Amino acid sequence: MTKVLTVIGTRPQFIKAAAVARAIKQHGGIQEVLLHTGQHYDDAMSDIFFREMDLPKPDYHFSINTSTHATMTAQMLEGIEQAIIKEKPDTVLVYGDTNSTLAGALAASKLHVPVAHVEAGLRSFYMDMPEEVNRILTDRLSTQLFCPTEVAMQNLKNEGLTEPDRLVVNTGDVMYDAALYYAKQSAKKSDIVQKLGLKKDGYLLATFHRAENTDNKERLEAIVKAINTLAKEHTIVLPLHPRTRKMMEQFHLKLNCMVIDPVGYFDMLSLLQNSHLVLTDSGGLQKEAYFFHKYCIILRDQTEWVELTQAGCSVLAGAVKEHILHGVANMYNKQFINGNIFYGNGKASALICQHLVK
Ligand code: UD1
Ligand code: UDP
Repeated sequence: MTKVLTVIGTRPQFIKAAAVARAIKQHGGIQEVLLHTGQHYDDAMSDIFFREMDLPKPDYHFSINTSTHATMTAQMLEGIEQAIIKEKPDTVLVYGDTNSTLAGALAASKLHVPVAHVEAGLRSFYMDMPEEVNRILTDRLSTQLFCPTEVAMQNLKNEGLTEPDRLVVNTGDVMYDAALYYAKQSAKKSDIVQKLGLKKDGYLLATFHRAENTDNKERLEAIVKAINTLAKEHTIVLPLHPRTRKMMEQFHLKLNCMVIDPVGYFDMLSLLQNSHLVLTDSGGLQKEAYFFHKYCIILRDQTEWVELTQAGCSVLAGAVKEHILHGVANMYNKQFINGNIFYGNGKASALICQHLVK
């Protein structure tokens, strides 16, 4: 039996880990120990995903009592190190590019435990993003790099992170696995569209929470103004991330659209599938928009998912009001063209399991 210690801590990681945990269960040859760093802690940002998506209760669940990056990462390191020493896993499995990802990779590599990174190789080439720092360091420390796309494979090659020193493989994207599987359940279990009185295809879905937008008053104000202008013409549903809520209060900004609390994954998939178009700075939602054939206006200056902008499925609008309005006007009446499959075949998680036991 191969023993894997999985380190997760934020909303998108719960979704990715749920897809892989299902595959681990089906595989039968892997024992998974689950560690939740406590980075996200509200029910709507954490517990709801464990309940809905049948993620096992974490074997370790820490709490973080700070918001600065270094102290947060340091607190996580302490707990993760103790868990690794106790569990003696064959591999530590980390996801994406958050502080929890880096803490998991760093703690493991210091103890000479191999690190496997799901979503390896993504780059924005913008080092001011905390996520870019986390992903570059994590890739450097990993011995198994599971890339979601060909572009990610190429990025690692360009950095000299290649075989035979490590395994580098395009597995496809575990978020595609999750979206396909949970969309079926969402159709049965979510009634959010009816509850909010929304019409199919009759609203825009928006989310934003990235530090580069929320912590910069000018950028946050520009996005809020763009959404408020669009809301005069369109219904806009916006599940608000707690970080964004906090910064909006701090900067005295107000949204005039349908603002709701963060929702669980079933409701999110339902809101997405019934929407007309998506505006977001979320990494995950950019791809999910594509999975369900929705155009996406990206509220960032660069994206890791360049295959989508190159194919014309999404457009970078940054935090510039005119660009955001122009993006919506341009995309609103266009028929979605979906000729390429960039993210694998929905079986990335099973492939990852095969590699984990090798
Ligand atoms: C983190 C990740 C980001 C990812 C996002 C997913 C880092 C550096 N950033 O950003 O890459 O896209 O998660 O959603 O790891 N808060 C709550 N309740 C919660 C969680 C957060 O109130 O359950 C508030 C707190 O005020 C906290 C702030 O949000 O200080 C920011 O949380 P943090 O985990 O530091 O970063 P995110 O913005 O969530
Ligand atoms: N999501 C969710 N509820 C919400 C907002 C987002 O379930 O209220 C899902 C979304 O569908 C995607 C994931 O959370 O699967 C993305 O997480 P987030 O935007 O927080 O982080 P990022 O992907 O930008 O790191």
